[in-house]
Amino acid sequence: MAKVKTRYVCQNCGTTSPKWMGKCSACEEWNTYVEEIVEPKTSPKNTRLSDIDKHQLASAVSIEAIESVQERRIVSDDHELNRVLGGGIVPGAIILLGGEPGIGKSTLMLQIAIHLRGVKILYVSGEESASQIKMRADRIGVKNKDCLILTETNLYNIFKQLKSNRPDLCVIDSIQTLYSPAMESTAGSVSQIRECAGELQRFAKETHTPVFLIGHITKEGNIAGPKVLEHMVDTVLQFEGQHHYAYRLLRTKKNRFGSTAELGIYEMLHDGLRQVTNPSELLISENSDQLSGICIAATIEGMRPLLIETQALVSRSAYGTPQRSATGFDSRRLNMLLAVLEKKCGFRFGDKDVFTNITGGIKVEDPAIDLAIICALLSSFEDVTVPSNVCFAGEVGLSGEVRSVNRIEQRILEADKLGFKKMFVSSSNKGLNPDKYDIKLVQVSNVQEVYTNLFQ
Ligand code: TYD
Ligand code: MG
Repeated sequence: MAKVKTRYVCQNCGTTSPKWMGKCSACEEWNTYVEEIVEPKTSPKNTRLSDIDKHQLASAVSIEAIESVQERRIVSDDHELNRVLGGGIVPGAIILLGGEPGIGKSTLMLQIAIHLRGVKILYVSGEESASQIKMRADRIGVKNKDCLILTETNLYNIFKQLKSNRPDLCVIDSIQTLYSPAMESTAGSVSQIRECAGELQRFAKETHTPVFLIGHITKEGNIAGPKVLEHMVDTVLQFEGQHHYAYRLLRTKKNRFGSTAELGIYEMLHDGLRQVTNPSELLISENSDQLSGICIAATIEGMRPLLIETQALVSRSAYGTPQRSATGFDSRRLNMLLAVLEKKCGFRFGDKDVFTNITGGIKVEDPAIDLAIICALLSSFEDVTVPSNVCFAGEVGLSGEVRSVNRIEQRILEADKLGFKKMFVSSSNKGLNPDKYDIKLVQVSNVQEVYTNLFQ
């Protein structure tokens, strides 16, 4: 077979070179050269604009004249996945599932595959042997004879199997292990990943077969491989969580067929992943009534309201430089909140070590958590407990004001449903009618007010 000709292209300015270079000679950027296949030139005759009439070309039509087709999605057993994908798997969709090694990507895909009924699946693994996959399937404990396993990394052989078996769904575990014999570079290199993903994308679109690609992520949290991989696929899912905790979050970073605001929550058990339908109950530990430094925040993750426990420990620092540590929460934000408490409420944290933690190993980016963190800090500082049936939702600004947060009603309803008795919210939330809810709403406008209300 003839080797494909390749060249190196600077991803920043587009300069080409026959050899790889560390620094682009044109734009002087570092590490921007990526190997690309040189497409054989089409004959100039075909591209001449004067010959345009001889070719069959698509013509423009009015948007109203296009018939809308409802694609029949494959709806899996897994409600979390269905929701995250926007209502099931779209035929011909190519979906990238990224995540750190060992987080449970293979488990998730195998579990979804063997739970599907009436759908023929080809699960291609380049990482594990057939017996290892069987062991995992035994742990999950479901039988499905329509789930075919192929341990292969050569793209040509995978395509042969795809042609002969004609599956309704294909899973590739992982895209980094595949290689196309048409290229010289090793499996996992940028050009191989792009070539293999490109071929699979063509297959998905031509045969209307959905394809899941599992991808590893780098230390920085990006999907290993070219950024274009994320552009090539229809949907990018991210599976995240911490190894020491059982919770796993499935997020969408991109979705051509649905919203990216959805979130799926799973719990890793000894027999596979369990869908978590009521996450708040799991994330709040019981008996926190007697402990200081614990507050519950009403946050929104994706589209879902989630009540989570925030913890703080403020103690006298033993060494000259006080320590600041935030787990699951931005440490710069913590420093800002401490500065607000110093300036606006007169608390001195200069000689105190401060540790904050979000339980369950969850990372929270919702600014509505600020108020709960502030109260947890004050509770630990004063060593006074906050009742466990009180929760908080509010962003804290630089001058100590408590600001309104989005979807406040959803947060209130969730807290109400879970039996909370009191909730602190910003007084600037518009159109809020406290009489509508069973839960007592305390509307506060600044941090001092919260302090007086809770601790004095
Ligand atoms: P795996 O799916 O192999 O991760 P990835 O493909 O993302 O690298 O899952 C790895 C971890 O999941 C492993 O440490 C064991 C754990 N696990 C369970 O706890 N329960 C189970 O039922 C299974 C199958 C795995
Ligand atoms: Mg794996």
